[in-house]
Amino acid sequence: MEKYKLPDLPYAYDALAPYMSQEVLKLHHDKHHAGYVSAANALLDKIDTARKSGEVIDFKSALKTLSFNVGGHILHETFWKVMAPANTGNSRIKGEVLKAIEKEFGSFERFKTEFTETAKSVEGSGWAILAFHKEHGENGALSIIQVEKHNVNFYPEQTILLCLDVWEHAYYLDYKNDRAKFIENWWNIVNWEEVEKRFASK
Ligand SMILES: [Fe+2]
Repeated sequence: MEKYKLPDLPYAYDALAPYMSQEVLKLHHDKHHAGYVSAANALLDKIDTARKSGEVIDFKSALKTLSFNVGGHILHETFWKVMAPANTGNSRIKGEVLKAIEKEFGSFERFKTEFTETAKSVEGSGWAILAFHKEHGENGALSIIQVEKHNVNFYPEQTILLCLDVWEHAYYLDYKNDRAKFIENWWNIVNWEEVEKRFASK
């Protein structure tokens, strides 16, 4: 059973250079993301086989691993979409999502500061996420989430609008240990058109 599939990148491997190199993007997509997809499918197969045979497996362990790999798959799939080559016309924030960010954070600059600090301060491997919470107040609200690994600290109800991978595999070959520089440069390749689309269909 192949429930999850590795999506193609929406651009060429070298499209995000110099902010994210071809080498990093290729490894990240073809090896790391692919690994999460195949591990998630293998886990689903294992659970399915056990279900058919009646075997009681270690569900605690299986579901923890499944959550890690499915989280990895969904976050990477989103990550590729919320990036675009620099200076392509969609790298400027505008529209309703800008208004919502200004309402929630006071200004776009303040949002950028909070998101950057969130990403910089992830302990070990994880993500910074801008999310919309439907259940948060009368009209919902934006918030920033700091996810550890791919699945720790998530809220049960949310729409991911923007996410940034700060696992070392996302930047180490390009920036060595300088995660802050990677984050600073990453703002050049955010696809705000996609963020706006996600906000509109939240
Ligand atoms: Fe990653």
